[in-house]
Amino acid sequence: MMLGHLLHLAGIDSVIIENRSRDYVIERVRAGVLEQGTVDLMIESGVGARLQREGLFHDGISINVYAQRRRIDMAALTGRRITVYGQNEVVKDLIAARMVTGRALLFEVADVTIDDVNSKQPKIHFTHNDELQEIRCDFIAGCDGFHGICRPSIPEDCIQIFERTYPFGWLGILANAAPSSSELVYSRHPNGFALFSMRSNTVTRLYLQCLPDEDLAQWPDDRIWEELLTRLGSDDGWKPNVGPILQKGVTGMRSFVAEPMRYGRMFLAGDAAHIVPPTGAKGLNLAIADVWRLSRAVAEYYQSGYEALLDRYSEECLQRVWRAQQFSWWMTSLLHRSDTGNPFDCRRQRAELESVTSSPAAMTMLAENYVGFPVAHEFAALQMVLRR
Ligand code: DHB
Repeated sequence: MMLGHLLHLAGIDSVIIENRSRDYVIERVRAGVLEQGTVDLMIESGVGARLQREGLFHDGISINVYAQRRRIDMAALTGRRITVYGQNEVVKDLIAARMVTGRALLFEVADVTIDDVNSKQPKIHFTHNDELQEIRCDFIAGCDGFHGICRPSIPEDCIQIFERTYPFGWLGILANAAPSSSELVYSRHPNGFALFSMRSNTVTRLYLQCLPDEDLAQWPDDRIWEELLTRLGSDDGWKPNVGPILQKGVTGMRSFVAEPMRYGRMFLAGDAAHIVPPTGAKGLNLAIADVWRLSRAVAEYYQSGYEALLDRYSEECLQRVWRAQQFSWWMTSLLHRSDTGNPFDCRRQRAELESVTSSPAAMTMLAENYVGFPVAHEFAALQMVLRR
């Protein structure tokens, strides 16, 4: 949706096809932490009005180290902050902007296949309202997620996969309860990791480390609350407010990168090309950074026939992707309980938590990764390199 929006602003047409329904994508709760660069891009591109009104701006986070809550003041350390605003809200705003343009946006398409990706006119075939349809285009943007069809359409010998799975997952809930803290709390407890987040002044979002294939049937609401209160509660008396659970689900965790993020005239973006474990809240922000870069490269192509930005797309994206991979892996290892780890690793992790919550240098490293590196500035630097 963001790519379609940025292309529209550059006067470039696109057809967006989505296999889910409009209600599904608007209602399904997903990520919620926007980096400063993502927020800036939404505001500058004219889709940030509701975000500015309803987004929750956070200057810091806390890490609860074995019941001791310690704050990391990200704004003081980096001059940047994060914004809590649901991914589905971002999608809702982008759909509204798309409707105004009158450009094509089709929901509930099925049987999507792509052809002639290596030619100058790739094709997409699909069914919509029981009718077979074909799109002939100059470029395909594979923004169809980890389970989409774009990446698997690339011949195996043209793509390299880097992957790591984790022996845990997250059980996430959305609760009708006012957030009891105005900032996020990441917690390491002997029972494992837990996270306190929110979606609004009346809705709390919470996560518990669990098994990757955890059976939700074993987790009645009372058990979820008991475990959340145990893992999140701190010595200063803080704990989350309890309320009716509105949604719950289990997600596995993996680190995954496909290189290059291009095959012929198809460009992969977001989860189609890379997955990070959720601990650093990077997934959505990486996807936005990818499509910002892709929109500039495509715009440059139509303005001047210049393909250098398209040619550099994958390499440039992957620099940010690998930094985010490193950060997300590190945050995950820092905060989760590993049942396969030996007692040495457990003590070492505790020492690292002490360091990260007391050394200004260590806190700054966490904070600058967490708030995210500037996207636009990075891109301006790239343009200067190319002009030389
Ligand atoms: C949320 C998700 C994350 O992965 C995270 O690190 C912080 C917050 C959330 O859904 O609010």
